[in-house]
Amino acid sequence: MGRNLARNLARHDFPVALHNRTYARTESLVSEHGDEGTFVPSESLEDFVASIARPRPIIVMVKAGEPTDAVIEQLVPLLDEGDVVIDCGNAHFADTRRREAALRDKALHFVGAGVSGGEEGALHGPSIMPGGSAESYETLGPMLEAIAAQVDGTPCCTHVGPDGAGHFVKMVHNGIEYADMQLIAEAYDLLRRGLGADPSRIAAIFGEWNEGDLESYLIEITADVLAHTDAATGQPFIDVVLDQAEQKGTGRWTVQTALDLGVPVTGIAEATFARSVSGHAEQREPTRAAYPDAHVEAGWRPDDEDAFVEDVRRALYASKVVAYAQGFDEIQAGSRAYDWGIDPGAMATIWRGGCIIRARFLDRIREAYDADPELPTLLVAPYFVEAVQEGLESWRRVVATAARGGIPAPAFASSLAYFDALRAERLPAALIQGLRDDFGAHTYRRVDRPGTFHTLWAGDLSEEKQG
Ligand code: 6PG
Repeated sequence: MGRNLARNLARHDFPVALHNRTYARTESLVSEHGDEGTFVPSESLEDFVASIARPRPIIVMVKAGEPTDAVIEQLVPLLDEGDVVIDCGNAHFADTRRREAALRDKALHFVGAGVSGGEEGALHGPSIMPGGSAESYETLGPMLEAIAAQVDGTPCCTHVGPDGAGHFVKMVHNGIEYADMQLIAEAYDLLRRGLGADPSRIAAIFGEWNEGDLESYLIEITADVLAHTDAATGQPFIDVVLDQAEQKGTGRWTVQTALDLGVPVTGIAEATFARSVSGHAEQREPTRAAYPDAHVEAGWRPDDEDAFVEDVRRALYASKVVAYAQGFDEIQAGSRAYDWGIDPGAMATIWRGGCIIRARFLDRIREAYDADPELPTLLVAPYFVEAVQEGLESWRRVVATAARGGIPAPAFASSLAYFDALRAERLPAALIQGLRDDFGAHTYRRVDRPGTFHTLWAGDLSEEKQG
């Protein structure tokens, strides 16, 4: 990825100083792509730093965690006031805050920049989410905006906010990516098991969906993956891949952080746990063996195939709105907690191109936040109210069909439950409060009077006002 970012910069006429711990890698980049622009290779870190004009913008592209700290430690003594170190890896935003503070103390800038789009994106135009000081963005902005993806003439890069804001937003981007992929996977499973459709037919369905509201990079490549045939066996590729999803950690961070911030990102959490469930072969196998005839309701299969495909499409769209709504809630909660001043509409704008979750409907999200930056949830933006309303019956039917047919659809089901919880007039949380007060005198509030109260459950059941 670092290699492709360097090539992208060179192609945009920025001279690029190069250094890699393994010099052969630097040499191979220059010999293979030296004609794409100006590369200045250096074998030593000292020569590399000396070859850059001040204030030096230095992009670090190494594994997140200790390797990043090790590189920063080597670099810092060689730098001068005002130089900018840019970490383009998937760092945890708390690490970025720590590093930014440490370098700020040395009169250096540290920019944690989320970069999305994989290797191809890095070369042809990623979505870039840089944090750090506004001053550092004055130097970096023009360069990053030039190499970023462009949509309608607007670069998919903007200054996100101070210190860890960029990596925070990239973390949530990845959390949404988890939810989006899980929803797509559940839609595939429902079509495969519910209709008995083969992967090539489902690929065609996803291809059609990609021409409507669902148009997005992930839907597009779902059609490609499902249409692919394994060369070795002649089987559909999807059938020869082990059904255990890996994860590097950004989804987990999104959920952990959301728990700390008190933001219910249920779709992202379900998606993260679904990967975890898939990996527990030691539990999956005995459970399958213990329930050979697990009850599946007779007649659960949809009888109108076209209607079911349309139901799944609508359920996917509605669930996706929930996933994005929750992700944006987390961005706003993070922004409030750390005083970052993140503009949610601007985040939707820079995700329209280059990144993994790029999608047509990000334009709608941008419009919603531009119209009202204080939206309590995307679910109440007029466009999304109409879209969800339109898909609601389908959504309920799909979740019910999944349950009746024994097809796990945790992200579909939890998105619907979240939606129903938000719109419920009364939640059973009142009972939770009663129970907490009964066993632990944790108190409760009343609907008809201010203050906190406790009932003497073990006594005469009279009520005391506690505060
Ligand atoms: C991106 C991707 C990228 C990477 C993920 C994969 O935006 O370009 O999100 O960052 O592919 O980190 O994450 P998992 O391995 O956790 O699925």
